[in-house]
Amino acid sequence: MAQPFSTAKRPPSYSLAQIVLHWTIAGLVAWQLFISGHPPRIQPGSVQGFWAMTTASSHVWLGLTVLALVVVRVVLRLSQGAPPPVESPPAAEVASRVVHFLFYLLLFFMPITGILAWYFGLPTGDIHELGQPVFIVLIAAHVAASLWHQFIRHDGLIRRMVVPAR
Ligand code: HEM
Ligand code: HEM
Repeated sequence: MAQPFSTAKRPPSYSLAQIVLHWTIAGLVAWQLFISGHPPRIQPGSVQGFWAMTTASSHVWLGLTVLALVVVRVVLRLSQGAPPPVESPPAAEVASRVVHFLFYLLLFFMPITGILAWYFGLPTGDIHELGQPVFIVLIAAHVAASLWHQFIRHDGLIRRMVVPAR
């Protein structure tokens, strides 16, 4: 099965830029999902207090930042490639490709549906909110898989997203 975003390039690890983008986007998404997206704080008209205003406006600006960063990330992914998959059972390999692909989809889907609701008043707020549980399930699976590789299979997978190849 062809890997989404696969290219002929197979470096031993991700590049420094890819690693910085992965962790920056992960941190921003955590903020968007667990702190600033909390309904009472983001509902227009019900925002009260400094913290509420800051988190509500940060939701918009940091969400736009995620969109810009993910565009750069996809360009780098296509131009620099990714390390070859580590040795895993075929089902685990397929699951990892599917989860990574869905992450990229959601990283576009969430900001775009948010922009359409916030700036254009289109009825995409509900579907934007539906992305939250999907994102959380994928993150849980992704973290569990990373820990499985690291502590059960001892194949050094996390190192590829921490120590750059170049
Ligand atoms: C990765 C980017 C983003 C993520 C993960 C995200 C996540 C969320 C979450 C979790 C909620 C609350 C859902 C709930 O608790 O039911 C929410 C609500 C909302 N977000 Fe985002 N968001 C992102 C980007 C954006 C952007 C860029 C905008 C606008 C420019 C935006 C506008 C909104 C609006 C307007 C709501 C309220 C929707 C409603 O009540 O109908 N979001 N978002
Ligand atoms: C919102 C949170 C996160 C998102 C959206 C995310 C997304 C992604 C994506 C899309 C990839 C595939 C990169 C590519 O080949 O283009 C990836 C790889 C990776 N992620 Fe995450 N990630 C998140 C959080 C985490 C966390 C918390 C960990 C640590 C446990 C982690 C560990 C890794 C590792 C080790 C890889 C490399 C996998 C490999 O080399 O096959 N990620 N992540």
